[in-house]
Amino acid sequence: MHSHLILYCLIFIVAGSYVDGAGRWRYISRHTGVNSTQPVDKWRDEYPKCGRHNQSPINFDTSRIQPSDTLQHIFFVDYDEHPPHHAWKIFNNGHTVVMKGNYTCPPQLQGGALVDKYEVVQLHFHWGEEDFEGSEHRVDGHQYPLELHIVHKKRVHDEKANDDKKELKNENEDLNLAVIGIFFDVVSDENANPNLDPVTQALERVIKPDEPVDAYLPTFTLQSLLPKYRDYYRYTGSLTTPPCDPVVKWSVFRQPVPISRQQMEAFRRLEGHVHDEDGQIQTVANATETRILKNFRPVQPIGNRIVSLYSSRSASVRADVHPGGASEAQGRKAESPLEIQKSRATTIGSSLVGVLPLLVLTQL
Ligand SMILES: *[C@@H]1O[C@H](CO)[C@@H](O)[C@H](O)[C@H]1NC(C)=O
Ligand SMILES: *[C@@H]1O[C@H](CO)[C@@H](O)[C@H](O)[C@H]1NC(C)=O
Ligand SMILES: *[C@@H]1O[C@H](CO)[C@@H](O)[C@H](O)[C@H]1NC(C)=O
Ligand SMILES: [Zn+2]
Repeated sequence: MHSHLILYCLIFIVAGSYVDGAGRWRYISRHTGVNSTQPVDKWRDEYPKCGRHNQSPINFDTSRIQPSDTLQHIFFVDYDEHPPHHAWKIFNNGHTVVMKGNYTCPPQLQGGALVDKYEVVQLHFHWGEEDFEGSEHRVDGHQYPLELHIVHKKRVHDEKANDDKKELKNENEDLNLAVIGIFFDVVSDENANPNLDPVTQALERVIKPDEPVDAYLPTFTLQSLLPKYRDYYRYTGSLTTPPCDPVVKWSVFRQPVPISRQQMEAFRRLEGHVHDEDGQIQTVANATETRILKNFRPVQPIGNRIVSLYSSRSASVRADVHPGGASEAQGRKAESPLEIQKSRATTIGSSLVGVLPLLVLTQL
């Protein structure tokens, strides 16, 4: 059974490189006047999709977002698995750092009203120069200092896989991605998130752009990056970098993950490219000048899109376990034990339903 599974997976190692391209585009120019248009606002000139509809990131206006009845829990299938030999490829492309696990069977997203199964392709980060900026998505206008994107590509069906091999050139045509967004919050405790150490230590090896390295990360899994509570915002949007294809089902977790000050600084030490006025890459001796310090795109119009929130509906249960929930629980009127009992039962019931797809999967 197991060897059959591996063979089955090998068919699908047709990982796209569409999100790696360095390109000539950039976010900001370091030497422009107050009123000049920043390069990020001119992406549309060269990449028309960046100026069209359904663009990302957006601001989540929580006063207008209702918990959804149709969204469900997302299953992070094999997120706790290591790639063979714990092998990861780490790449500073001049815009961000990209990490790819050398998986035979990449971890998948299932459930979450996604219909299809989505396989992990890569992960990367967006950050700012100071702690008050950095994330791409915002919550009521608030920006977190760092946002992680775990990019997944729709898994193609068996019969179609062979056709796709013949027509690799068309790979981008029906691009269909699901991206998980995770906010980070800087905390003073140095040891608040040791799970992130393998990443920040690996960053030291890719300070200079364009030189990918092989890293062996024995303790690192995708699972270790996820927040404890899995409520998420869902909407349909785009890649947040050129060519801005509007092909992404976004799921952005509501709960941020902690990051220490030292870990945060490791991102701000990465160096990018320096461009001259025509966008050509220049060589600059002073490393401070070349650092990647603002690699987030400004928020885009929502238009008539609907943002929904998946919330593990048992608010009374959540209140007594949510971090910082102490005050939330105290501020709430005490619920009757019966009511709490009932919502616990609901939680357990729905999580049992959720286990079923997992069981089916292991039968493969
Ligand atoms: C910038 O724009 C504002 C308002 O549009 C204008 O009042 C100001 O003079 C401009 N500054 C420069 C340096 O062009
Ligand atoms: C990645 O996996 C392939 C086979 O699936 C193997 O040939 C290659 O050596 C691996 N790379 C690393 C860096 O381990
Ligand atoms: C490098 O550039 C930074 C920022 O522009 C500047 O503060 C620093 O003095 C420069 N260092 C050298 C050695 O020129
Ligand atoms: Zn991103």
